[in-house]
Amino acid sequence: MDKQARIQELKREKNAVILAHYYVDEDVQQCADYIGDSFYLAKIATKVDAERIIFAGVEFMGESAKLLNPQKRVFMPDATADCPMAHMTDVEEIEKVRKEHPDIAVVCYVNSTAEVKAHSDVCVTSSNAVKIVKNLPNPTIYFIPDANLGNFIRKQVPEKEIITNRGFCPRHVAITMDDMLRAKEMHPNAKVAAHPECTEDVLKEADYVGSTSGIIDYVVNTEGDEFIVATVDGVFPKIKEQAPGKKLYRVIDPQVCVNMKKVTLDKVIDVLENETNEITLDEEIAKKAVLPLERMLELAK
Ligand code: 13P
Ligand code: SF4
Repeated sequence: MDKQARIQELKREKNAVILAHYYVDEDVQQCADYIGDSFYLAKIATKVDAERIIFAGVEFMGESAKLLNPQKRVFMPDATADCPMAHMTDVEEIEKVRKEHPDIAVVCYVNSTAEVKAHSDVCVTSSNAVKIVKNLPNPTIYFIPDANLGNFIRKQVPEKEIITNRGFCPRHVAITMDDMLRAKEMHPNAKVAAHPECTEDVLKEADYVGSTSGIIDYVVNTEGDEFIVATVDGVFPKIKEQAPGKKLYRVIDPQVCVNMKKVTLDKVIDVLENETNEITLDEEIAKKAVLPLERMLELAK
């Protein structure tokens, strides 16, 4: 039996669904019941009624699914698939800023640990960050842990003061402005779509900035045959499926998230068969950490 068929069989046997982020390899996306950006996956996690969720993504995504569904069992195909940016801030840093600015709202990108979420006021993803920050009553925002997404929000919401820390995504900051200018020179007719985790100078060159789902929708629905895509290559298969005629170019080659890459079909089979790598959370932290996630789901409506 091939691996895809085995996974379908195991899903039925174990009453499990597979949620996959766009950054995992195409074969893993193919075995998933739901594929999406991190906001869609957090939302869908609250709606599935299977007993088990297999999260083909990185740790903070599985953790968010578990926080929102404490009664369900959530498993990670690879226990070491983690987003380094999620660890680029901590509770000490938050508490220090809160002391200096008592009226601040701590807005935390979902790419963060449960402990950091537990000390934040609201979570956001790249697809709803601008909307949520705009609608918060606080004039001053402490946005963690992605300084680049924070800069992007600052530009879109100039009426607020946005304080950021120094977090970044190693994959997206590896795309430099020189790389982008070279790609534009090679493909002068291409439109540019970029993820807001890219640096400010790269984003200046973009025709569209948005989440992974936003990038897919933009490329599929925008007139033109050529697009430069400044994010992880995992978004390419969905675009090709929906708009097979479009030519897609990378800014650098390859554009991979090494942690997302750790998720393989063999590991999905293993986790389904052996129920390893289950997410467990400290109860006290979980009780607090779910609140900013729930607030995000409410405010993003
Ligand atoms: P999205 O929310 O756009 O899917 O992005 C998640 C992520 O980790 C980007 O690097
Ligand atoms: Fe984290 Fe960057 Fe990978 Fe996204 S692409 S999961 S931000 S390391």
